[in-house]
Amino acid sequence: MKSSSKNPKVILVGAGPGDIELITVKGLKAIKKADVILYDALVNTEFLDFAKPETKCVYVGKRFNDHKYSQLEINQMLVEYAYEYGTVVRLKGGDPYVFGRGAEEITFVESRGVETEMISGISSALAVPASHGVSLTKRGVSQSFWVITGTTSSGDVSQDIALAAQSSATLVVLMGLRNFGLIINEIKKHRHKYTPFAIIQNGSLPNETILIDTIANYKNVIDAIDFKAPGIIVIGDVVADHPSFLEEEIQRVLELGF
Ligand SMILES: C[S@@+](CC[C@H](N)C(=O)[O-])C[C@H]1O[C@@H](n2cnc3c(N)ncnc32)[C@H](O)[C@@H]1O
Repeated sequence: MKSSSKNPKVILVGAGPGDIELITVKGLKAIKKADVILYDALVNTEFLDFAKPETKCVYVGKRFNDHKYSQLEINQMLVEYAYEYGTVVRLKGGDPYVFGRGAEEITFVESRGVETEMISGISSALAVPASHGVSLTKRGVSQSFWVITGTTSSGDVSQDIALAAQSSATLVVLMGLRNFGLIINEIKKHRHKYTPFAIIQNGSLPNETILIDTIANYKNVIDAIDFKAPGIIVIGDVVADHPSFLEEEIQRVLELGF
């Protein structure tokens, strides 16, 4: 391994949900001083415009079965670039510690003697519902929220979905679109059939979409899901605050009488 930099360092930076303005001041400062940036698939590439002209920007994204580099290769690149160039920014979507494998990368890099720093980002789990006026907790409606993966590393539905469904919590499911039917069927065992849900895709970006219905009618939206785009599923009574939900309900009462 080449070792030309006197100050090798890896900074993990959360890039937020997609909107270029939803990054921390500290995160943006790190991008501006980086010698190398390794960025993920869900990172808005407009952030790279803030880097120095000589900064080396490397795409290391992973989407579905399209993995340009394995996780081990990414870990090794972080170390090698830090020793060769100096400050490496590892730019990740949302918050690196929310289903971002950020902790694994920090552990690997530190084990190779490289200094690290973690700069938190705004997770899509929080920012995307909020931008639609959906408050994850609300007095008298929801006392907590669970942020859960919809798909475990084995491809199955997480068992935490059933546990969360038994509480009054709002459920925020990431990486759940491919298991959407299985997830809703699990929720239906524990929640009333008029429980509303929202699927928000490309949240905070110009091509953002939202689908809203009740868990009883979840099949209505399946054809409208874009399985290639990132999306979160928000389930719980707080979703009823969204104006589209009210419109759906009025429509249902007018058409069906219930
Ligand atoms: C590997 S996880 C990373 C989550 C990220 N660390 C965070 O805090 O937002 C990727 C998942 O996050 C969700 N996601 C990320 N950005 C999103 C966005 N702009 N709109 C909707 N969902 C998003 C999707 O569920 C996607 O499959």
